[in-house]
Amino acid sequence: MKRFLKLITMEMEEAFRAAGYDEAYAKVSLSNRPDLCEYQCNGALVAAKAYKKAPIMIAKDVTAHLQESAVFSYAEAVNPGFINLKAAPGFTAEFLNEMAGAENLGVEKETKPKTIMIDYGGPNVAKPLHVGHLRSAIIGESVKRIVRFKGNQVIGDIHLGDWGYQMGLIITELEKRKPELPYFQEDYEGEYPQEAPFTIGELEEIYPTASAYAKENEEYREKALQATFLLQSGRRGYRAIWQHIMQVSVADLKKNYSVLNVDFDLWKGEADVQKYIPDMVHMLKEKGFARYDEGALVVDVAEEDDNKAVPPCMILKSDGAALYDTTDLATLIERESLYKPDQIIYVVDKRQELHFVQVFRCAKKTGIVRPEVDLKYLGFGTMNGKDGKPFKTREGGVMRLENLLREITEEMRKKIMDNRTVTGEEAEATARTVGLAAVKYGDLSNQASKDYIFDVDRFTSFEGNTGPYILYTIVRIKSILNKYQESGGSMDALRIREPESDCEKALMLETAKFNEVIDTVYEEIAPHKLCAYIYDAANAFNKFYHDTRILAEEDEEKKAGYLALLKLTKEVLEVCIDLLGFEAPERM
Ligand code: ARG
Repeated sequence: MKRFLKLITMEMEEAFRAAGYDEAYAKVSLSNRPDLCEYQCNGALVAAKAYKKAPIMIAKDVTAHLQESAVFSYAEAVNPGFINLKAAPGFTAEFLNEMAGAENLGVEKETKPKTIMIDYGGPNVAKPLHVGHLRSAIIGESVKRIVRFKGNQVIGDIHLGDWGYQMGLIITELEKRKPELPYFQEDYEGEYPQEAPFTIGELEEIYPTASAYAKENEEYREKALQATFLLQSGRRGYRAIWQHIMQVSVADLKKNYSVLNVDFDLWKGEADVQKYIPDMVHMLKEKGFARYDEGALVVDVAEEDDNKAVPPCMILKSDGAALYDTTDLATLIERESLYKPDQIIYVVDKRQELHFVQVFRCAKKTGIVRPEVDLKYLGFGTMNGKDGKPFKTREGGVMRLENLLREITEEMRKKIMDNRTVTGEEAEATARTVGLAAVKYGDLSNQASKDYIFDVDRFTSFEGNTGPYILYTIVRIKSILNKYQESGGSMDALRIREPESDCEKALMLETAKFNEVIDTVYEEIAPHKLCAYIYDAANAFNKFYHDTRILAEEDEEKKAGYLALLKLTKEVLEVCIDLLGFEAPERM
């Protein structure tokens, strides 16, 4: 379905042509004087030079052709040559009725759908999830839903950090505690136990203990490094422990992510791609891309016009160990061979930007990915506490995701109980739903690349640009629609009518922007623009609600028209929050 602004612009083009001017000047935009008009066209000012004519004359010629327009109810030339416009009520209502009946509320799907992979989440197995992982999950999930909504084939991959030093640490600590286990008997040839020798709770304690100990004890650290090396070289007992760590952690991660309403199509990780490394290294050497630099194997990726030095991509350390660069390159080999993506979007902390510059350049230069593959890095900023420093707990440690959500949910539960609309179990569930929205909206409403301040009081507020405010608005609309139906009203065949008041018109024009906004959000991969839009739409609705007697309206047709508009507004808001990755409760 065509965009509202596009239809308006087409009408303006027609008028420019009819008046004898080039339609290229007929660009229409939102008015920056909303007190005077809804839209404006400044084309006459631009055309003046080409036609050697006063802009106001051109504007008047054009508006003369718009007086009978079905699209504009008002078109006036004002000095020095602006054209001020208002959309015709009938045209606006028709547009919304068409939108209400259209597939995806008028958002068009890609004509040539692409295969897009999203690399997000990126938790490190057996290490606690921290707020950086939270941001990746929240932003990545929203990006995934947005590109999918536009009809692309989208594959979300969690890309687990499951092959590093933390594994060696856990193995070492476990051996220290339970040396009798068969995993540590080198000559053991039997089957290993099915069940892991630890629970998730124990695992969560083992890692930090081992990590801290390794920092003070050189010998222990050496052992952990050696264990990492042996694991990576395939030692049976260590592989078996690794399997246990994976089982236990992945089950726990799945639980965590489902609480966040985040789900991945692929649960692949660094370990999965180790098998591609030997051939890749061989290729890089044989084709002359790689060179040795002080024993390490590297690929140069600096370019002439770099204004900051871009160091070489590190393929193998001097001891032969693979690195972060290596794994990401190997992952690209696998992605190319299994999924042939048109685009890969990496949603990762912006402090890793250089790493991705190196990896992308290396992958392109060496032909690991086809030249046409669009490798995109969506780097996000840091979530800070109120003190402006990276978010910490009250005790000063890194905030665990669960605790953070618990804190927010508790805050929400108090507020919801104060409202007294829901009680007991429902309050619990509602607090979780609203709490999640508070966290996600608080994050997504900022441009991803920027740092932001995590402010529990502000995020959980029912007022202002917050998740709870948006949900509250949706709940309010739902409740009006429910009351209408309970009193015998039918939602079938309702039609939106011509607006009569300014606030009704304003709500309609806001709603009409939907498909355009979605396209912009999609093209720019900018969930924060979706937040800005729903905030405007929610404000427009609430203004309408306060100024209008909706259910008390005596004229039944008029009332039906209001309800049709409410229904559409609700649908728009619901699609938007779904694209942001959260949902609205029934009551709150
Ligand atoms: N596990 C990494 C970390 O915690 C993030 C992984 C990001 N994705 C990637 N393909 N490198 O920093």
